[in-house]
Amino acid sequence: MDVREMSGHDLAAVAGLCERELMLDRDAGELPAMLMRRPYVGLVAAAGPSLLGACFGAAGPAGRGRRTGFIDLLVVDRAARRQGLGRRLAAGVHERLAASGCQVIAVRGHGVHYAWPGIDVGYTAAICMAEDLGFQRGGCEVDMRVDLRSVQLDTRSAGERLRSAGIVVRRAGPADDGPLQSSLAGTWIPDWIGALTAALRGGRGGLHVALHGQRYVGFCAYGVNRLYEIGPLGTAPDLRGLGIGGTLIKRCLADQRDRGLSAADLGWAGPLSYFSSTLKAVISRTYWQYEKDLTAPGEAARWQDRIGLI
Ligand SMILES: CC(C)(COP(=O)(O)OP(=O)(O)OC[C@H]1O[C@@H](n2cnc3c(N)ncnc32)[C@H](O)[C@@H]1OP(=O)(O)O)[C@@H](O)C(=O)NCCC(=O)NCCS
Repeated sequence: MDVREMSGHDLAAVAGLCERELMLDRDAGELPAMLMRRPYVGLVAAAGPSLLGACFGAAGPAGRGRRTGFIDLLVVDRAARRQGLGRRLAAGVHERLAASGCQVIAVRGHGVHYAWPGIDVGYTAAICMAEDLGFQRGGCEVDMRVDLRSVQLDTRSAGERLRSAGIVVRRAGPADDGPLQSSLAGTWIPDWIGALTAALRGGRGGLHVALHGQRYVGFCAYGVNRLYEIGPLGTAPDLRGLGIGGTLIKRCLADQRDRGLSAADLGWAGPLSYFSSTLKAVISRTYWQYEKDLTAPGEAARWQDRIGLI
Protein backbone atom coordinates (compact mmCIF):
# COMPACT_ATOMS: atom_id res chain seq x y z
CA MET A 1 0.00 0.00 0.00
CA ASP A 2 1.39 3.31 -1.09
CA VAL A 3 0.40 6.60 0.64
CA ARG A 4 1.33 9.60 -1.50
CA GLU A 5 0.43 13.22 -2.16
CA MET A 6 -2.86 13.77 -3.96
CA SER A 7 -2.77 15.59 -7.27
CA GLY A 8 -5.38 16.95 -9.64
CA HIS A 9 -5.03 13.72 -11.64
CA ASP A 10 -6.56 11.81 -8.71
CA LEU A 11 -9.74 13.89 -8.76
CA ALA A 12 -11.96 11.45 -10.67
CA ALA A 13 -10.88 8.44 -8.58
CA VAL A 14 -11.26 10.33 -5.27
CA ALA A 15 -14.68 11.56 -6.40
CA GLY A 16 -15.70 7.98 -7.21
CA LEU A 17 -14.52 6.80 -3.79
CA CYS A 18 -16.56 9.52 -2.05
CA GLU A 19 -19.62 8.70 -4.17
CA ARG A 20 -19.39 5.04 -3.14
CA GLU A 21 -18.48 5.44 0.53
CA LEU A 22 -20.06 8.64 1.88
CA MET A 23 -23.49 7.11 2.20
CA LEU A 24 -25.13 10.00 4.07
CA ASP A 25 -24.29 12.56 1.41
CA ARG A 26 -26.13 13.47 -1.72
CA ASP A 27 -23.66 14.60 -4.40
CA ALA A 28 -20.70 13.22 -2.40
CA GLY A 29 -18.71 12.93 -5.63
CA GLU A 30 -18.63 16.73 -5.88
CA LEU A 31 -16.86 17.21 -2.54
CA PRO A 32 -13.24 16.67 -3.69
CA ALA A 33 -13.49 19.28 -6.46
CA MET A 34 -15.03 21.68 -3.98
CA LEU A 35 -12.21 21.14 -1.46
CA MET A 36 -9.63 21.62 -4.21
CA ARG A 37 -10.96 25.12 -4.82
CA ARG A 38 -8.81 26.37 -1.94
CA PRO A 39 -5.26 25.56 -0.78
CA TYR A 40 -5.31 22.02 0.60
CA VAL A 41 -3.15 19.21 1.87
CA GLY A 42 -4.21 15.95 0.28
CA LEU A 43 -3.04 12.36 0.56
CA VAL A 44 -4.25 9.22 -1.19
CA ALA A 45 -3.67 5.55 -0.47
CA ALA A 46 -3.35 3.31 -3.51
CA ALA A 47 -2.65 -0.34 -4.23
CA GLY A 48 -1.45 -0.43 -7.82
CA PRO A 49 -4.13 1.26 -9.92
CA SER A 50 -6.80 1.03 -7.19
CA LEU A 51 -7.38 4.09 -5.07
CA LEU A 52 -8.43 2.92 -1.60
CA GLY A 53 -8.36 6.01 0.59
CA ALA A 54 -8.10 9.78 0.61
CA CYS A 55 -7.72 12.56 3.13
CA PHE A 56 -8.03 16.32 2.74
CA GLY A 57 -6.79 18.88 5.25
CA ALA A 58 -6.02 22.57 5.23
CA ALA A 59 -4.00 25.00 7.33
CA GLY A 60 -6.02 27.83 8.81
CA PRO A 61 -4.79 31.42 8.59
CA ALA A 62 -1.57 32.30 10.37
CA GLY A 63 -2.01 35.25 12.65
CA ARG A 64 -2.01 36.09 16.26
CA GLY A 65 -2.55 33.13 18.56
CA ARG A 66 -2.27 29.45 17.79
CA ARG A 67 -2.59 28.28 14.23
CA THR A 68 -5.27 25.68 13.58
CA GLY A 69 -5.14 23.05 10.87
CA PHE A 70 -8.20 21.13 9.74
CA ILE A 71 -9.03 17.60 8.65
CA ASP A 72 -11.71 18.22 6.04
CA LEU A 73 -12.47 14.77 4.64
CA LEU A 74 -11.26 11.23 5.27
CA VAL A 75 -12.56 8.24 3.38
CA VAL A 76 -11.43 4.62 2.99
CA ASP A 77 -12.85 1.98 0.67
CA ARG A 78 -15.02 -0.37 2.75
CA ALA A 79 -13.03 -3.39 1.54
CA ALA A 80 -9.85 -1.87 2.99
CA ARG A 81 -11.11 -0.66 6.37
CA ARG A 82 -9.76 -1.56 9.80
CA GLN A 83 -6.28 -2.12 8.40
CA GLY A 84 -4.86 1.16 9.63
CA LEU A 85 -5.29 3.09 6.40
CA GLY A 86 -7.47 5.85 7.89
CA ARG A 87 -4.94 6.22 10.68
CA ARG A 88 -2.00 6.50 8.23
CA LEU A 89 -3.77 9.05 6.05
CA ALA A 90 -4.84 11.19 9.02
CA ALA A 91 -1.34 11.00 10.56
CA GLY A 92 0.23 12.06 7.25
CA VAL A 93 -2.04 15.08 6.99
CA HIS A 94 -1.41 15.95 10.68
CA GLU A 95 2.35 15.87 10.06
CA ARG A 96 2.08 18.20 7.09
CA LEU A 97 -0.18 20.61 8.97
CA ALA A 98 2.16 20.58 11.99
CA ALA A 99 5.12 21.23 9.67
CA SER A 100 3.35 24.33 8.37
CA GLY A 101 3.01 25.65 11.93
CA CYS A 102 -0.37 24.31 13.07
CA GLN A 103 -0.56 23.58 16.78
CA VAL A 104 -4.17 22.49 16.91
CA ILE A 105 -5.95 20.11 14.54
CA ALA A 106 -9.71 20.58 14.27
CA VAL A 107 -12.44 18.67 12.53
CA ARG A 108 -14.81 21.50 11.87
CA GLY A 109 -16.06 23.40 8.83
CA HIS A 110 -14.07 26.50 7.95
CA GLY A 111 -13.79 29.04 5.19
CA VAL A 112 -16.17 29.25 2.25
CA HIS A 113 -15.68 25.82 0.70
CA TYR A 114 -16.15 23.21 3.41
CA ALA A 115 -17.80 19.80 3.28
CA TRP A 116 -19.48 19.65 6.71
CA PRO A 117 -19.61 21.63 10.00
CA GLY A 118 -18.06 18.64 11.81
CA ILE A 119 -18.41 14.84 11.63
CA ASP A 120 -21.95 13.63 10.98
CA VAL A 121 -22.83 11.48 14.01
CA GLY A 122 -24.21 8.92 11.55
CA TYR A 123 -20.68 8.24 10.30
CA THR A 124 -20.10 6.00 13.32
CA ALA A 125 -16.68 4.70 12.31
CA ALA A 126 -15.36 8.23 11.83
CA ILE A 127 -16.73 9.36 15.19
CA CYS A 128 -15.11 6.33 16.87
CA MET A 129 -11.87 7.01 15.09
CA ALA A 130 -11.73 10.69 16.11
CA GLU A 131 -12.37 9.80 19.75
CA ASP A 132 -9.89 6.90 19.75
CA LEU A 133 -7.23 9.15 18.24
CA GLY A 134 -7.59 11.52 21.20
CA PHE A 135 -9.66 14.28 19.66
CA GLN A 136 -11.81 16.14 22.18
CA ARG A 137 -15.48 16.54 21.34
CA GLY A 138 -16.54 20.19 21.18
CA GLY A 139 -19.57 21.86 19.65
CA CYS A 140 -22.60 20.26 18.08
CA GLU A 141 -24.11 21.75 14.92
CA VAL A 142 -27.03 20.73 12.73
CA ASP A 143 -28.43 21.05 9.23
CA MET A 144 -32.15 21.63 8.75
CA ARG A 145 -34.16 20.37 5.80
CA VAL A 146 -37.01 22.17 4.07
CA ASP A 147 -39.55 20.12 2.13
CA LEU A 148 -39.89 22.07 -1.13
CA ARG A 149 -42.98 20.10 -2.15
CA SER A 150 -45.07 21.40 0.76
CA VAL A 151 -43.58 24.71 1.94
CA GLN A 152 -45.45 27.89 1.02
CA LEU A 153 -43.10 30.14 -0.95
CA ASP A 154 -45.26 33.01 -2.19
CA THR A 155 -43.52 36.31 -1.33
CA ARG A 156 -45.64 38.75 -3.33
CA SER A 157 -47.46 40.46 -0.43
CA ALA A 158 -44.35 40.49 1.79
CA GLY A 159 -42.40 42.00 -1.14
CA GLU A 160 -45.09 44.72 -1.56
CA ARG A 161 -44.96 45.56 2.14
CA LEU A 162 -41.19 45.90 2.02
CA ARG A 163 -41.36 48.02 -1.13
CA SER A 164 -43.73 50.46 0.60
CA ALA A 165 -41.10 50.74 3.37
CA GLY A 166 -38.49 51.61 0.71
CA ILE A 167 -36.84 48.17 0.62
CA VAL A 168 -36.38 46.45 -2.73
CA VAL A 169 -35.80 42.70 -2.88
CA ARG A 170 -34.33 41.36 -6.11
CA ARG A 171 -32.04 38.80 -7.68
CA ALA A 172 -28.38 39.87 -7.62
CA GLY A 173 -26.42 40.12 -10.87
CA PRO A 174 -22.92 40.96 -12.11
CA ALA A 175 -23.41 44.70 -11.42
CA ASP A 176 -23.68 43.91 -7.69
CA ASP A 177 -20.16 42.46 -7.65
CA GLY A 178 -18.23 45.23 -5.88
CA PRO A 179 -20.95 47.43 -4.38
CA LEU A 180 -22.36 44.44 -2.47
CA GLN A 181 -19.07 43.53 -0.81
CA SER A 182 -18.29 47.17 0.07
CA SER A 183 -21.70 47.67 1.61
CA LEU A 184 -21.67 44.47 3.68
CA ALA A 185 -18.02 44.21 4.74
CA GLY A 186 -18.41 46.33 7.88
CA THR A 187 -21.12 44.09 9.32
CA TRP A 188 -20.49 40.52 8.17
CA ILE A 189 -17.59 38.09 8.57
CA PRO A 190 -15.15 37.69 5.66
CA ASP A 191 -16.19 34.05 5.08
CA TRP A 192 -19.74 35.15 4.44
CA ILE A 193 -18.63 37.92 2.08
CA GLY A 194 -16.54 35.24 0.34
CA ALA A 195 -19.54 32.94 0.07
CA LEU A 196 -21.69 35.72 -1.42
CA THR A 197 -18.92 36.54 -3.89
CA ALA A 198 -18.74 32.85 -4.85
CA ALA A 199 -22.53 32.80 -5.34
CA LEU A 200 -22.32 35.89 -7.58
CA ARG A 201 -19.46 34.57 -9.69
CA GLY A 202 -20.02 30.82 -9.53
CA GLY A 203 -22.03 28.88 -12.05
CA ARG A 204 -24.64 26.86 -10.25
CA GLY A 205 -26.22 28.77 -7.40
CA GLY A 206 -27.81 32.15 -7.01
CA LEU A 207 -28.17 35.15 -4.74
CA HIS A 208 -31.07 37.39 -3.77
CA VAL A 209 -30.53 40.73 -2.05
CA ALA A 210 -32.52 43.45 -0.28
CA LEU A 211 -31.59 47.10 -0.78
CA HIS A 212 -32.58 50.26 1.04
CA GLY A 213 -31.40 52.93 -1.38
CA GLN A 214 -27.78 52.07 -2.15
CA ARG A 215 -27.34 50.08 1.05
CA TYR A 216 -27.50 46.28 0.97
CA VAL A 217 -29.64 45.35 3.98
CA GLY A 218 -30.15 41.63 3.40
CA PHE A 219 -28.90 38.68 1.40
CA CYS A 220 -29.54 35.00 0.87
CA ALA A 221 -27.44 32.70 -1.33
CA TYR A 222 -27.93 29.12 -2.40
CA GLY A 223 -25.77 26.55 -4.15
CA VAL A 224 -22.44 28.02 -3.01
CA ASN A 225 -21.04 24.51 -2.53
CA ARG A 226 -23.96 22.19 -3.30
CA LEU A 227 -27.06 23.14 -5.26
CA TYR A 228 -29.42 21.95 -2.52
CA GLU A 229 -27.78 24.07 0.18
CA ILE A 230 -29.11 27.43 1.34
CA GLY A 231 -27.08 30.18 2.94
CA PRO A 232 -25.60 32.37 4.05
CA LEU A 233 -28.66 34.40 4.99
CA GLY A 234 -28.50 37.73 6.79
CA THR A 235 -30.48 40.89 7.54
CA ALA A 236 -28.96 44.15 8.77
CA PRO A 237 -29.30 44.22 12.58
CA ASP A 238 -31.32 47.46 12.58
CA LEU A 239 -33.89 46.13 10.08
CA ARG A 240 -34.74 42.76 11.56
CA GLY A 241 -38.33 41.74 12.20
CA LEU A 242 -39.67 43.27 8.97
CA GLY A 243 -39.76 40.05 6.95
CA ILE A 244 -36.63 40.73 4.88
CA GLY A 245 -34.92 37.41 5.75
CA GLY A 246 -38.09 35.38 5.21
CA THR A 247 -38.67 36.95 1.81
CA LEU A 248 -35.08 36.39 0.72
CA ILE A 249 -34.90 32.76 1.79
CA LYS A 250 -38.26 31.91 0.20
CA ARG A 251 -37.09 33.38 -3.09
CA CYS A 252 -34.00 31.15 -2.99
CA LEU A 253 -36.05 28.10 -2.05
CA ALA A 254 -38.40 28.84 -4.96
CA ASP A 255 -35.40 28.91 -7.32
CA GLN A 256 -34.26 25.55 -5.98
CA ARG A 257 -37.75 24.08 -6.36
CA ASP A 258 -37.96 25.44 -9.92
CA ARG A 259 -34.67 23.70 -10.66
CA GLY A 260 -36.22 20.38 -9.77
CA LEU A 261 -35.15 19.86 -6.15
CA SER A 262 -37.65 18.37 -3.69
CA ALA A 263 -35.71 19.35 -0.55
CA ALA A 264 -33.23 22.04 0.45
CA ASP A 265 -30.77 22.02 3.36
CA LEU A 266 -29.92 24.90 5.65
CA GLY A 267 -26.31 24.00 6.34
CA TRP A 268 -24.94 24.72 9.84
CA ALA A 269 -28.39 26.13 10.64
CA GLY A 270 -29.45 28.64 13.24
CA PRO A 271 -31.51 30.13 14.77
CA LEU A 272 -33.40 26.83 14.79
CA SER A 273 -36.78 28.14 15.96
CA TYR A 274 -36.83 30.77 13.22
CA PHE A 275 -36.44 28.19 10.45
CA SER A 276 -38.73 25.73 12.17
CA SER A 277 -41.56 28.23 12.45
CA THR A 278 -41.15 30.10 9.15
CA LEU A 279 -40.38 27.11 6.89
CA LYS A 280 -41.35 24.02 8.91
CA ALA A 281 -37.69 23.04 8.61
CA VAL A 282 -36.65 19.93 10.52
CA ILE A 283 -33.24 18.94 11.89
CA SER A 284 -31.86 16.54 9.31
CA ARG A 285 -28.19 16.01 10.21
CA THR A 286 -26.16 16.42 13.39
CA TYR A 287 -22.43 17.04 13.55
CA TRP A 288 -19.95 16.88 16.38
CA GLN A 289 -16.87 19.05 16.13
CA TYR A 290 -13.49 17.84 17.34
CA GLU A 291 -10.16 19.32 18.26
CA LYS A 292 -6.76 17.99 19.22
CA ASP A 293 -4.00 20.07 20.77
CA LEU A 294 -0.71 18.89 19.27
CA THR A 295 1.28 20.73 21.92
CA ALA A 296 -0.51 19.19 24.93
CA PRO A 297 1.81 17.06 27.02
CA GLY A 298 1.03 13.32 26.91
CA GLU A 299 -2.01 11.57 25.56
CA ALA A 300 -5.50 12.95 26.16
CA ALA A 301 -7.56 10.94 28.62
CA ARG A 302 -9.26 7.97 27.01
CA TRP A 303 -13.06 8.03 27.01
CA GLN A 304 -13.13 4.96 29.25
CA ASP A 305 -11.10 6.88 31.84
CA ARG A 306 -13.27 9.96 31.55
CA ILE A 307 -16.49 8.14 32.34
CA GLY A 308 -14.88 5.84 34.89
CA LEU A 309 -15.64 2.50 33.28
CA ILE A 310 -12.13 1.21 33.65
C1 LIG B 1 -13.70 6.51 9.14
C2 LIG B 1 -12.85 5.69 8.16
C3 LIG B 1 -12.11 6.66 7.27
C4 LIG B 1 -11.83 4.86 8.97
O1 LIG B 1 -10.92 4.25 8.07
P1 LIG B 1 -10.11 2.91 8.43
O2 LIG B 1 -9.05 2.76 7.43
O3 LIG B 1 -11.05 1.79 8.62
O4 LIG B 1 -9.48 3.33 9.85
P2 LIG B 1 -8.30 2.57 10.64
O5 LIG B 1 -8.24 1.13 10.25
O6 LIG B 1 -7.04 3.36 10.47
O7 LIG B 1 -8.82 2.71 12.13
C5 LIG B 1 -8.26 3.64 13.03
C6 LIG B 1 -9.00 3.56 14.34
O8 LIG B 1 -10.30 4.21 14.23
C7 LIG B 1 -11.27 3.48 15.04
N1 LIG B 1 -12.26 2.88 14.13
C8 LIG B 1 -12.22 2.83 12.77
N2 LIG B 1 -13.34 2.22 12.32
C9 LIG B 1 -14.08 1.90 13.37
C10 LIG B 1 -15.33 1.26 13.54
N3 LIG B 1 -16.05 0.82 12.50
N4 LIG B 1 -15.80 1.08 14.78
C11 LIG B 1 -15.08 1.49 15.86
N5 LIG B 1 -13.88 2.09 15.76
C12 LIG B 1 -13.40 2.30 14.54
C13 LIG B 1 -10.45 2.42 15.78
O9 LIG B 1 -9.95 3.01 16.93
C14 LIG B 1 -9.33 2.18 14.80
O10 LIG B 1 -8.20 1.63 15.40
P3 LIG B 1 -8.08 0.02 15.63
O11 LIG B 1 -8.47 -0.64 14.33
O12 LIG B 1 -6.65 -0.16 16.00
O13 LIG B 1 -9.05 -0.30 16.72
C15 LIG B 1 -13.72 4.72 7.34
O14 LIG B 1 -14.54 3.95 8.22
C16 LIG B 1 -14.60 5.39 6.33
O15 LIG B 1 -14.16 5.66 5.22
N6 LIG B 1 -15.88 5.67 6.67
C17 LIG B 1 -16.78 6.31 5.76
C18 LIG B 1 -16.36 7.72 5.50
C19 LIG B 1 -16.55 8.62 6.68
O16 LIG B 1 -17.37 8.42 7.57
N7 LIG B 1 -15.82 9.70 6.68
C20 LIG B 1 -16.05 10.69 7.69
C21 LIG B 1 -16.38 11.94 7.09
S1 LIG B 1 -14.89 12.87 6.93
